Formats: sequence, structure tokens, C-alpha cells
Amino acid sequence: MAISFLLNGQPQSVDVDENTPLLWVIRDVLNLKGTKFGCGKAACGACTIHVDGESVRSCSFALKYAEGKSITTIEGLGDADNLHPVQQAWIEEVVPQCGYCQPGFMMATAALLEKIPNPTDQDIDDNIVNICRCATYYRMRKAIHRAAAIKNTNI
Ligand code: FES
Ligand code: FES
Repeated sequence: MAISFLLNGQPQSVDVDENTPLLWVIRDVLNLKGTKFGCGKAACGACTIHVDGESVRSCSFALKYAEGKSITTIEGLGDADNLHPVQQAWIEEVVPQCGYCQPGFMMATAALLEKIPNPTDQDIDDNIVNICRCATYYRMRKAIHRAAAIKNTNI
């Protein structure tokens, strides 16, 4: 049976095994490659997306749970003409090294800022628990604070 949901604001309907992890549906069926595979065990955060605004690790989220939901991937966060504050801050602070983990961090950060508009360092430590093998954590922390400042200015 087809599973239907919104993906980056567009209606989608997918007819594959309903237990398929959403990560593989997004990457291999819907051909959006920004969401990354790292561990496959909900441990690294490379596959982070939003489901109804909540940060979710898509490698461990079955397609069947997406029915009727609004899904956002890194491709839907913003675009070149309308950058999301997280994207703008990431550019300003030159965060990425290899870049592989960065979409997951950016999605986790965007969700955090919806809940905690001015996160402290402790809030960041408690909520942004993804893994970066290039250890860009210092620049990321600066970028999260910068993104909060940009977002709050835009309100
Ligand atoms: S690939 Fe999903 S958390 Fe690592
Ligand atoms: S920038 Fe390389 S893994 Fe994070």
C-alpha cells in the first residue's frame, strides 16, 4: 500500500515495503542525496531530518510512520535566494570540513532553534549530539550561536 506524505512541501506517495527506513526512501526512491548514511543505528545523526518539525534520525524511522506527516530534508531548509539562518551562519563561520555530517547537524540545529531560540552552550551540548569525524565542533558551536542571533533579528 502506498504511503503518502509531504516532502519539502510537495505531496509524495511511495509504494515500497512500509518498513523501509525513511533514509533510503529519501535517497534512493526520491533521489534527494543531502541526507546521509553514517551508522544506520540512530547513533551519529548524519541522517537527521524533520518530521512535523521534530528532529528525527531517518535511518531508524520506518516509512510507515511517515504517513500523513510533513517531512523536511536539508534540501527543503532554504535555498540560495532565501537562506535559512542556519545555512547563513554555517557559511559565515565556514563550518564544514569534509562536509559529510553537516546536513544532519544543520537539521538538528534548525529544530533546536525552534524550541530554544537562544541556546546556551549547555543547551547545545544537551541537544546537538551528532558526530563529526572531522571534529568541527568548535566552529559549529559558534555557528549555532550565530544562527540564533540571525534568526532572532529576522523575527
Ligand atoms: S545514519 Fe542515522 S544516526 Fe547514523
Ligand atoms: S565535516 Fe567531516 S565528518 Fe563532519
